[in-house]
Amino acid sequence: MKLKFDYNNMMADVIGERGISADLITANASKIDGAFNNVLENCGKGWQEWSELPYINPSDVDSIIARMNDIRSKASAFVVLGIGGSALGPISVVQALLNMRLNELPAPALKAAGLPKLYIEDNIDPERMHELLELIDLKTTYFNVITKSGETSETLAQFLVLYDLMKKAVGKEEAKKHFIATTTMGKGTLYKLAQKEGFVTYGIGAGVGGRFSVLSNVGLVPFAAMGIDIKKLLAGAKEMSEACRVSDVKKNPALMTAFLQCMAMEKGANISVMMPYADSLKYMSDFYCQIWAESLGKAKDKDGNLVFVGQTPAKALGVTDQHSQVQLYTEGPFDKVVTILAVDKFRNDVVIPCDDDIDACEFLKGHTMGELLNAERVATEYALRKAERMSFTITLPEVNEETVGELLAYYMYETAFAGAYLNIDTFNQPGVEEGKKATFAMLGRKGYEEKLAEVRSATKKDEYYI
Ligand code: PA5
Repeated sequence: MKLKFDYNNMMADVIGERGISADLITANASKIDGAFNNVLENCGKGWQEWSELPYINPSDVDSIIARMNDIRSKASAFVVLGIGGSALGPISVVQALLNMRLNELPAPALKAAGLPKLYIEDNIDPERMHELLELIDLKTTYFNVITKSGETSETLAQFLVLYDLMKKAVGKEEAKKHFIATTTMGKGTLYKLAQKEGFVTYGIGAGVGGRFSVLSNVGLVPFAAMGIDIKKLLAGAKEMSEACRVSDVKKNPALMTAFLQCMAMEKGANISVMMPYADSLKYMSDFYCQIWAESLGKAKDKDGNLVFVGQTPAKALGVTDQHSQVQLYTEGPFDKVVTILAVDKFRNDVVIPCDDDIDACEFLKGHTMGELLNAERVATEYALRKAERMSFTITLPEVNEETVGELLAYYMYETAFAGAYLNIDTFNQPGVEEGKKATFAMLGRKGYEEKLAEVRSATKKDEYYI
Protein backbone atom coordinates (compact mmCIF):
# COMPACT_ATOMS: atom_id res chain seq x y z
CA MET A 1 0.00 0.00 0.00
CA LYS A 2 1.42 3.36 -1.04
CA LEU A 3 -1.00 5.62 0.85
CA LYS A 4 -0.13 6.64 4.43
CA PHE A 5 -2.76 7.25 7.10
CA ASP A 6 -1.96 9.52 10.04
CA TYR A 7 -4.78 9.62 12.60
CA ASN A 8 -2.81 11.19 15.46
CA ASN A 9 -5.00 14.25 15.38
CA MET A 10 -8.12 12.19 16.01
CA MET A 11 -6.85 10.93 19.34
CA ALA A 12 -7.48 12.34 22.82
CA ASP A 13 -3.90 11.78 23.94
CA VAL A 14 -2.75 14.06 21.10
CA ILE A 15 -5.43 16.77 20.80
CA GLY A 16 -7.04 16.59 24.24
CA GLU A 17 -10.39 15.40 25.50
CA ARG A 18 -12.25 16.51 22.37
CA GLY A 19 -10.51 13.60 20.62
CA ILE A 20 -11.18 9.88 20.70
CA SER A 21 -9.76 7.92 23.61
CA ALA A 22 -7.47 5.06 22.57
CA ASP A 23 -9.30 2.90 25.15
CA LEU A 24 -12.43 3.08 23.01
CA ILE A 25 -10.72 0.96 20.37
CA THR A 26 -10.23 -1.84 22.91
CA ALA A 27 -13.64 -1.31 24.49
CA ASN A 28 -15.36 -1.64 21.09
CA ALA A 29 -13.18 -4.46 19.79
CA SER A 30 -16.02 -6.93 19.37
CA LYS A 31 -18.22 -4.39 17.57
CA ILE A 32 -15.32 -3.49 15.27
CA ASP A 33 -14.71 -7.20 14.58
CA GLY A 34 -18.43 -7.62 13.90
CA ALA A 35 -18.40 -4.82 11.31
CA PHE A 36 -15.24 -6.21 9.72
CA ASN A 37 -16.62 -9.76 9.50
CA ASN A 38 -19.93 -8.53 8.14
CA VAL A 39 -18.22 -6.76 5.24
CA LEU A 40 -15.66 -9.51 4.60
CA GLU A 41 -18.24 -12.31 4.66
CA ASN A 42 -20.28 -10.48 2.06
CA CYS A 43 -17.44 -9.58 -0.33
CA GLY A 44 -18.56 -10.48 -3.83
CA LYS A 45 -22.12 -11.21 -2.68
CA GLY A 46 -25.36 -9.23 -3.04
CA TRP A 47 -24.67 -5.49 -3.19
CA GLN A 48 -21.02 -6.08 -2.39
CA GLU A 49 -20.07 -7.18 -5.88
CA TRP A 50 -18.01 -3.94 -6.07
CA SER A 51 -15.36 -5.49 -3.84
CA GLU A 52 -14.45 -7.96 -6.65
CA LEU A 53 -14.03 -5.30 -9.35
CA PRO A 54 -10.25 -4.96 -8.90
CA TYR A 55 -9.99 -8.70 -9.59
CA ILE A 56 -11.61 -8.44 -13.06
CA ASN A 57 -10.41 -10.84 -15.75
CA PRO A 58 -7.41 -9.17 -17.50
CA SER A 59 -8.69 -10.20 -20.93
CA ASP A 60 -11.86 -8.13 -20.32
CA VAL A 61 -9.63 -5.16 -19.54
CA ASP A 62 -7.63 -5.74 -22.72
CA SER A 63 -10.74 -5.80 -24.85
CA ILE A 64 -11.99 -2.50 -23.35
CA ILE A 65 -8.60 -0.92 -24.03
CA ALA A 66 -8.51 -2.16 -27.64
CA ARG A 67 -11.97 -0.85 -28.46
CA MET A 68 -11.44 2.47 -26.70
CA ASN A 69 -8.06 2.99 -28.39
CA ASP A 70 -9.92 2.79 -31.66
CA ILE A 71 -12.56 5.30 -30.54
CA ARG A 72 -9.84 7.64 -29.25
CA SER A 73 -8.07 7.62 -32.60
CA LYS A 74 -11.27 8.88 -34.28
CA ALA A 75 -12.65 11.26 -31.64
CA SER A 76 -12.27 15.00 -31.30
CA ALA A 77 -14.46 14.86 -28.19
CA PHE A 78 -15.61 12.11 -25.83
CA VAL A 79 -18.75 12.92 -23.86
CA VAL A 80 -20.03 10.99 -20.85
CA LEU A 81 -23.73 11.27 -20.06
CA GLY A 82 -24.62 10.16 -16.53
CA ILE A 83 -25.45 11.40 -13.06
CA GLY A 84 -24.68 10.52 -9.42
CA GLY A 85 -22.67 7.33 -9.21
CA SER A 86 -22.61 7.16 -13.00
CA ALA A 87 -20.64 10.42 -13.18
CA LEU A 88 -18.91 11.35 -9.92
CA GLY A 89 -16.36 8.52 -9.96
CA PRO A 90 -15.36 9.30 -13.56
CA ILE A 91 -15.18 13.04 -12.77
CA SER A 92 -12.92 12.50 -9.74
CA VAL A 93 -10.54 10.19 -11.64
CA VAL A 94 -10.15 12.25 -14.81
CA GLN A 95 -9.49 15.37 -12.74
CA ALA A 96 -6.76 13.47 -10.91
CA LEU A 97 -5.12 11.78 -13.88
CA LEU A 98 -5.60 13.95 -16.96
CA ASN A 99 -4.25 17.40 -17.66
CA MET A 100 -6.56 19.63 -15.61
CA ARG A 101 -6.80 22.06 -18.54
CA LEU A 102 -7.14 19.39 -21.19
CA ASN A 103 -10.07 20.99 -23.00
CA GLU A 104 -8.26 24.33 -23.21
CA LEU A 105 -5.14 22.89 -24.86
CA PRO A 106 -4.61 24.15 -28.39
CA ALA A 107 -5.51 21.65 -31.11
CA PRO A 108 -1.88 20.74 -32.01
CA ALA A 109 -1.11 19.92 -28.35
CA LEU A 110 -4.21 17.72 -28.10
CA LYS A 111 -3.25 16.03 -31.32
CA ALA A 112 0.30 15.43 -30.10
CA ALA A 113 -1.10 13.90 -26.91
CA GLY A 114 -3.47 11.80 -29.03
CA LEU A 115 -6.42 12.81 -26.83
CA PRO A 116 -9.92 14.04 -27.53
CA LYS A 117 -11.55 16.72 -25.40
CA LEU A 118 -13.58 15.28 -22.56
CA TYR A 119 -16.93 16.42 -21.20
CA ILE A 120 -18.80 14.70 -18.38
CA GLU A 121 -22.35 15.96 -18.49
CA ASP A 122 -23.93 15.24 -15.13
CA ASN A 123 -26.79 17.70 -15.19
CA ILE A 124 -29.66 18.67 -17.41
CA ASP A 125 -29.27 22.42 -17.30
CA PRO A 126 -30.43 23.47 -20.78
CA GLU A 127 -27.93 26.34 -20.95
CA ARG A 128 -25.08 23.93 -20.30
CA MET A 129 -26.38 21.63 -23.04
CA HIS A 130 -26.53 24.56 -25.47
CA GLU A 131 -22.98 25.52 -24.67
CA LEU A 132 -21.78 21.94 -25.14
CA LEU A 133 -23.38 21.85 -28.56
CA GLU A 134 -21.55 25.05 -29.48
CA LEU A 135 -18.23 23.39 -28.62
CA ILE A 136 -18.41 19.92 -30.13
CA ASP A 137 -18.39 18.71 -33.69
CA LEU A 138 -20.92 15.86 -33.67
CA LYS A 139 -19.28 14.16 -36.64
CA THR A 140 -16.20 13.37 -34.53
CA THR A 141 -17.80 13.16 -31.09
CA TYR A 142 -18.44 9.89 -29.25
CA PHE A 143 -20.91 9.52 -26.40
CA ASN A 144 -20.87 7.09 -23.50
CA VAL A 145 -24.34 6.93 -21.94
CA ILE A 146 -24.09 5.51 -18.43
CA THR A 147 -27.03 4.52 -16.27
CA LYS A 148 -27.08 1.49 -14.02
CA SER A 149 -30.88 1.40 -13.83
CA GLY A 150 -31.28 2.42 -17.45
CA GLU A 151 -34.21 4.53 -16.30
CA THR A 152 -32.82 7.77 -14.90
CA SER A 153 -34.77 10.66 -16.44
CA GLU A 154 -31.81 13.04 -16.65
CA THR A 155 -29.55 10.61 -18.52
CA LEU A 156 -32.32 9.40 -20.82
CA ALA A 157 -33.24 13.00 -21.65
CA GLN A 158 -29.63 13.87 -22.52
CA PHE A 159 -29.38 10.74 -24.64
CA LEU A 160 -32.60 11.44 -26.54
CA VAL A 161 -31.53 15.01 -27.33
CA LEU A 162 -28.04 14.06 -28.49
CA TYR A 163 -28.96 10.93 -30.43
CA ASP A 164 -31.58 12.88 -32.32
CA LEU A 165 -29.05 15.58 -33.19
CA MET A 166 -26.44 12.99 -34.14
CA LYS A 167 -28.88 11.22 -36.51
CA LYS A 168 -29.62 14.57 -38.15
CA ALA A 169 -25.90 15.36 -38.44
CA VAL A 170 -24.54 12.07 -39.78
CA GLY A 171 -27.52 9.83 -40.59
CA LYS A 172 -28.89 6.92 -38.58
CA GLU A 173 -26.40 4.23 -39.60
CA GLU A 174 -23.37 6.36 -38.69
CA ALA A 175 -25.04 7.81 -35.55
CA LYS A 176 -25.26 4.34 -33.99
CA LYS A 177 -21.48 4.05 -34.06
CA HIS A 178 -21.11 7.21 -31.97
CA PHE A 179 -22.96 5.89 -28.91
CA ILE A 180 -21.70 3.44 -26.30
CA ALA A 181 -24.15 2.33 -23.62
CA THR A 182 -23.10 1.25 -20.12
CA THR A 183 -25.99 -0.24 -18.19
CA THR A 184 -27.38 -3.36 -16.52
CA MET A 185 -27.52 -6.10 -19.15
CA GLY A 186 -30.98 -7.41 -19.98
CA LYS A 187 -32.85 -4.78 -17.98
CA GLY A 188 -34.10 -1.23 -18.27
CA THR A 189 -34.92 1.28 -20.96
CA LEU A 190 -31.34 2.13 -21.98
CA TYR A 191 -30.53 -1.54 -22.48
CA LYS A 192 -33.62 -1.98 -24.70
CA LEU A 193 -32.80 1.12 -26.72
CA ALA A 194 -29.17 0.09 -27.09
CA GLN A 195 -30.20 -3.36 -28.33
CA LYS A 196 -32.69 -1.92 -30.76
CA GLU A 197 -30.21 0.59 -32.17
CA GLY A 198 -27.22 -1.77 -32.08
CA PHE A 199 -24.95 0.30 -29.79
CA VAL A 200 -21.82 -1.21 -28.34
CA THR A 201 -23.00 -2.02 -24.81
CA TYR A 202 -21.05 -2.64 -21.62
CA GLY A 203 -22.66 -4.20 -18.56
CA ILE A 204 -22.72 -3.19 -14.92
CA GLY A 205 -22.88 -6.11 -12.47
CA ALA A 206 -26.26 -6.55 -10.81
CA GLY A 207 -24.67 -6.14 -7.37
CA VAL A 208 -22.62 -3.03 -8.17
CA GLY A 209 -24.45 0.06 -6.95
CA GLY A 210 -23.94 3.46 -8.61
CA ARG A 211 -21.65 5.02 -6.03
CA PHE A 212 -19.58 1.83 -5.82
CA SER A 213 -19.25 1.46 -9.58
CA VAL A 214 -16.24 3.59 -10.54
CA LEU A 215 -13.99 0.54 -11.02
CA SER A 216 -16.59 -1.24 -13.18
CA ASN A 217 -17.25 -0.48 -16.84
CA VAL A 218 -18.79 2.78 -15.59
CA GLY A 219 -15.28 4.12 -15.10
CA LEU A 220 -13.09 1.75 -17.10
CA VAL A 221 -14.68 2.56 -20.46
CA PRO A 222 -14.29 6.37 -20.35
CA PHE A 223 -10.89 6.11 -18.63
CA ALA A 224 -9.60 3.80 -21.37
CA ALA A 225 -11.08 6.14 -23.97
CA MET A 226 -8.96 8.92 -22.47
CA GLY A 227 -5.79 6.82 -22.44
CA ILE A 228 -5.70 6.35 -18.65
CA ASP A 229 -3.85 3.18 -17.63
CA ILE A 230 -6.78 1.22 -16.19
CA LYS A 231 -4.58 -1.78 -15.38
CA LYS A 232 -2.56 0.33 -12.96
CA LEU A 233 -5.74 1.87 -11.53
CA LEU A 234 -7.11 -1.61 -10.83
CA ALA A 235 -3.75 -2.76 -9.45
CA GLY A 236 -3.83 0.13 -6.96
CA ALA A 237 -7.40 -0.73 -5.98
CA LYS A 238 -6.39 -4.35 -5.47
CA GLU A 239 -3.47 -3.35 -3.26
CA MET A 240 -5.77 -1.30 -1.04
CA SER A 241 -8.42 -4.04 -1.03
CA GLU A 242 -5.83 -6.42 0.43
CA ALA A 243 -4.98 -3.87 3.14
CA CYS A 244 -8.67 -3.46 3.95
CA ARG A 245 -9.13 -7.22 4.33
CA VAL A 246 -6.75 -7.39 7.29
CA SER A 247 -8.68 -8.01 10.51
CA ASP A 248 -6.38 -6.05 12.84
CA VAL A 249 -7.98 -2.60 13.06
CA LYS A 250 -4.57 -1.03 13.74
CA LYS A 251 -3.34 -2.27 10.37
CA ASN A 252 -6.52 -1.70 8.37
CA PRO A 253 -6.88 1.98 7.36
CA ALA A 254 -10.50 1.81 6.24
CA LEU A 255 -11.64 -0.08 9.34
CA MET A 256 -9.77 2.28 11.67
CA THR A 257 -11.01 5.51 10.11
CA ALA A 258 -14.56 4.17 9.77
CA PHE A 259 -14.52 3.38 13.48
CA LEU A 260 -13.04 6.77 14.40
CA GLN A 261 -15.68 8.57 12.31
CA CYS A 262 -18.45 6.59 14.04
CA MET A 263 -16.95 7.47 17.44
CA ALA A 264 -16.70 11.11 16.36
CA MET A 265 -20.38 11.04 15.40
CA GLU A 266 -21.21 9.75 18.86
CA LYS A 267 -19.36 12.78 20.24
CA GLY A 268 -21.48 15.08 18.06
CA ALA A 269 -19.11 15.53 15.12
CA ASN A 270 -21.79 15.15 12.51
CA ILE A 271 -19.93 16.83 9.69
CA SER A 272 -17.13 15.16 7.76
CA VAL A 273 -15.03 17.56 5.70
CA MET A 274 -12.91 16.23 2.84
CA MET A 275 -10.08 18.66 2.16
CA PRO A 276 -7.56 17.76 -0.53
CA TYR A 277 -4.42 19.87 -0.74
CA ALA A 278 -4.10 19.34 -4.50
CA ASP A 279 -6.35 20.56 -7.28
CA SER A 280 -5.96 17.19 -8.98
CA LEU A 281 -7.82 15.62 -6.02
CA LYS A 282 -10.48 18.33 -5.85
CA TYR A 283 -13.30 16.11 -7.12
CA MET A 284 -12.36 13.22 -4.84
CA SER A 285 -14.38 15.27 -2.37
CA ASP A 286 -17.44 15.00 -4.61
CA PHE A 287 -16.96 11.25 -4.91
CA TYR A 288 -16.56 11.01 -1.12
CA CYS A 289 -19.56 13.26 -0.43
CA GLN A 290 -21.82 11.01 -2.47
CA ILE A 291 -20.60 7.66 -1.16
CA TRP A 292 -20.61 8.85 2.46
CA ALA A 293 -23.96 10.69 2.31
CA GLU A 294 -25.99 8.30 0.21
CA SER A 295 -24.65 5.19 1.93
CA LEU A 296 -24.78 6.28 5.57
CA GLY A 297 -27.72 8.70 5.65
CA LYS A 298 -30.47 6.29 6.70
CA ALA A 299 -33.68 6.52 8.71
CA LYS A 300 -33.78 2.91 9.86
CA ASP A 301 -31.22 0.36 10.96
CA LYS A 302 -31.24 -3.23 9.75
CA ASP A 303 -33.55 -4.24 12.62
CA GLY A 304 -36.14 -1.67 11.56
CA ASN A 305 -35.44 0.81 14.39
CA LEU A 306 -35.64 4.50 13.54
CA VAL A 307 -32.08 5.78 13.90
CA PHE A 308 -31.75 8.77 11.53
CA VAL A 309 -28.00 8.37 11.21
CA GLY A 310 -25.42 9.82 8.87
CA GLN A 311 -22.56 12.27 8.98
CA THR A 312 -22.99 15.21 6.61
CA PRO A 313 -20.05 15.33 4.20
CA ALA A 314 -18.67 18.69 3.18
CA LYS A 315 -15.96 19.67 0.74
CA ALA A 316 -13.12 22.10 1.06
CA LEU A 317 -9.99 22.66 -0.99
CA GLY A 318 -6.57 23.46 0.40
CA VAL A 319 -5.32 26.11 0.34
CA THR A 320 -8.24 27.97 -1.23
CA ASP A 321 -10.58 27.28 1.67
CA GLN A 322 -8.01 28.24 4.28
CA HIS A 323 -9.10 31.72 3.28
CA SER A 324 -12.77 30.90 3.65
CA GLN A 325 -13.77 27.92 5.80
CA VAL A 326 -10.83 27.12 8.08
CA GLN A 327 -11.86 29.93 10.44
CA LEU A 328 -15.08 28.00 11.10
CA TYR A 329 -13.24 24.69 11.39
CA THR A 330 -10.86 26.02 14.05
CA GLU A 331 -13.20 28.20 16.08
CA GLY A 332 -16.77 27.15 15.29
CA PRO A 333 -18.68 24.29 16.89
CA PHE A 334 -16.91 21.02 17.67
CA ASP A 335 -19.05 19.23 15.09
CA LYS A 336 -16.54 18.29 12.39
CA VAL A 337 -13.88 15.81 11.43
CA VAL A 338 -11.55 17.08 8.73
CA THR A 339 -9.89 14.56 6.41
CA ILE A 340 -6.89 16.10 4.71
CA LEU A 341 -5.57 14.62 1.48
CA ALA A 342 -1.87 15.35 1.09
CA VAL A 343 0.47 14.81 -1.84
CA ASP A 344 4.19 14.33 -1.17
CA LYS A 345 5.49 15.02 -4.63
CA PHE A 346 3.70 17.03 -7.29
CA ARG A 347 4.11 15.79 -10.85
CA ASN A 348 5.25 19.26 -11.86
CA ASP A 349 6.49 22.00 -9.62
CA VAL A 350 7.30 25.68 -10.03
CA VAL A 351 10.14 27.53 -8.29
CA ILE A 352 9.25 30.91 -6.80
CA PRO A 353 11.73 33.60 -7.84
CA CYS A 354 12.24 36.85 -5.93
CA ASP A 355 14.27 39.97 -6.67
CA ASP A 356 16.80 40.47 -3.90
CA ASP A 357 15.51 43.90 -3.04
CA ILE A 358 11.98 42.78 -2.03
CA ASP A 359 12.71 41.89 1.60
CA ALA A 360 9.15 40.95 2.45
CA CYS A 361 9.18 38.22 -0.21
CA GLU A 362 12.58 36.86 0.70
CA PHE A 363 11.06 33.95 2.70
CA LEU A 364 9.37 32.63 -0.45
CA LYS A 365 12.47 32.80 -2.62
CA GLY A 366 13.76 29.51 -3.96
CA HIS A 367 10.90 27.47 -2.53
CA THR A 368 8.54 25.73 -4.89
CA MET A 369 4.78 26.23 -5.05
CA GLY A 370 4.45 22.57 -4.01
CA GLU A 371 6.51 23.28 -0.89
CA LEU A 372 4.36 26.28 -0.09
CA LEU A 373 1.17 24.26 -0.54
CA ASN A 374 2.47 21.52 1.73
CA ALA A 375 3.71 24.00 4.33
CA GLU A 376 0.22 25.49 4.41
CA ARG A 377 -1.28 22.02 4.74
CA VAL A 378 0.94 21.26 7.73
CA ALA A 379 0.00 24.68 9.13
CA THR A 380 -3.70 23.80 8.88
CA GLU A 381 -3.11 20.44 10.56
CA TYR A 382 -1.32 22.30 13.34
CA ALA A 383 -4.04 24.97 13.67
CA LEU A 384 -6.75 22.31 13.88
CA ARG A 385 -4.77 20.33 16.44
CA LYS A 386 -4.11 23.45 18.53
CA ALA A 387 -7.82 24.21 18.51
CA GLU A 388 -8.48 20.59 19.63
CA ARG A 389 -10.29 19.71 16.40
CA MET A 390 -10.33 16.19 15.05
CA SER A 391 -8.59 15.61 11.73
CA PHE A 392 -6.62 12.93 9.97
CA THR A 393 -4.33 13.00 6.95
CA ILE A 394 -4.10 10.59 4.05
CA THR A 395 -0.88 11.05 2.08
CA LEU A 396 -0.42 10.02 -1.54
CA PRO A 397 3.28 9.85 -2.44
CA GLU A 398 2.23 11.14 -5.87
CA VAL A 399 -1.06 11.33 -7.77
CA ASN A 400 -1.01 8.51 -10.32
CA GLU A 401 -3.17 5.60 -11.47
CA GLU A 402 -2.08 3.34 -8.62
CA THR A 403 -2.52 5.81 -5.78
CA VAL A 404 -5.87 6.97 -7.15
CA GLY A 405 -6.99 3.32 -7.38
CA GLU A 406 -5.95 2.87 -3.76
CA LEU A 407 -7.85 5.96 -2.65
CA LEU A 408 -11.06 4.90 -4.39
CA ALA A 409 -10.94 1.40 -2.88
CA TYR A 410 -10.22 2.89 0.56
CA TYR A 411 -13.33 5.12 0.35
CA MET A 412 -15.50 2.14 -0.59
CA TYR A 413 -14.25 -0.05 2.25
CA GLU A 414 -14.37 2.79 4.76
CA THR A 415 -18.00 3.42 3.86
CA ALA A 416 -18.89 -0.28 3.98
CA PHE A 417 -17.25 -0.70 7.42
CA ALA A 418 -18.96 2.42 8.79
CA GLY A 419 -22.34 1.20 7.51
CA ALA A 420 -21.79 -2.23 9.05
CA TYR A 421 -20.74 -0.62 12.34
CA LEU A 422 -23.90 1.52 12.31
CA ASN A 423 -25.96 -1.60 11.44
CA ILE A 424 -27.64 0.07 8.47
CA ASP A 425 -28.15 -0.91 4.84
CA THR A 426 -25.18 0.86 3.24
CA PHE A 427 -26.15 -0.02 -0.29
CA ASN A 428 -29.73 1.18 -0.70
CA GLN A 429 -30.95 4.72 -1.37
CA PRO A 430 -34.71 4.89 -0.73
CA GLY A 431 -34.60 8.68 -0.46
CA VAL A 432 -33.10 9.01 -3.95
CA GLU A 433 -35.54 6.49 -5.43
CA GLU A 434 -38.45 8.48 -3.98
CA GLY A 435 -37.35 11.57 -5.90
CA LYS A 436 -36.90 9.57 -9.11
CA LYS A 437 -40.45 8.20 -8.85
CA ALA A 438 -41.87 11.67 -8.16
CA THR A 439 -40.11 12.96 -11.31
CA PHE A 440 -41.60 10.13 -13.41
CA ALA A 441 -45.03 11.00 -11.97
CA MET A 442 -44.78 14.72 -12.66
CA LEU A 443 -43.72 14.09 -16.24
CA GLY A 444 -46.70 11.78 -16.78
CA ARG A 445 -44.91 8.41 -17.04
CA LYS A 446 -47.39 5.53 -17.26
CA GLY A 447 -47.86 3.58 -14.04
CA TYR A 448 -47.09 6.58 -11.79
CA GLU A 449 -50.62 8.05 -11.58
CA GLU A 450 -50.98 7.30 -7.86
CA LYS A 451 -47.58 8.84 -7.13
CA LEU A 452 -48.67 11.98 -9.01
CA ALA A 453 -51.76 12.29 -6.84
CA GLU A 454 -49.57 11.87 -3.76
CA VAL A 455 -47.08 14.52 -4.92
CA ARG A 456 -49.91 16.94 -5.64
CA SER A 457 -51.66 16.28 -2.35
CA ALA A 458 -49.08 18.18 -0.27
CA THR A 459 -50.82 20.93 1.68
CA LYS A 460 -49.62 24.44 0.87
CA LYS A 461 -50.86 27.60 2.59
CA ASP A 462 -50.96 31.00 0.91
CA GLU A 463 -49.72 32.69 4.10
CA TYR A 464 -46.36 30.97 3.74
CA TYR A 465 -45.50 32.66 0.46
CA ILE A 466 -43.72 36.01 0.34
O1 PA5 B 1 -25.44 5.68 -6.07
C1 PA5 B 1 -26.51 5.60 -6.65
O2 PA5 B 1 -27.14 4.53 -6.74
C2 PA5 B 1 -27.13 6.79 -7.34
O3 PA5 B 1 -26.46 7.98 -7.05
C3 PA5 B 1 -27.14 6.58 -8.84
O4 PA5 B 1 -25.82 6.41 -9.28
C4 PA5 B 1 -27.78 7.73 -9.59
O5 PA5 B 1 -29.06 7.97 -9.11
C5 PA5 B 1 -27.83 7.43 -11.08
O6 PA5 B 1 -28.49 6.23 -11.29
P1 PA5 B 1 -28.36 5.44 -12.65
O7 PA5 B 1 -26.94 5.02 -12.80
O8 PA5 B 1 -29.28 4.29 -12.49
O9 PA5 B 1 -28.76 6.37 -13.73
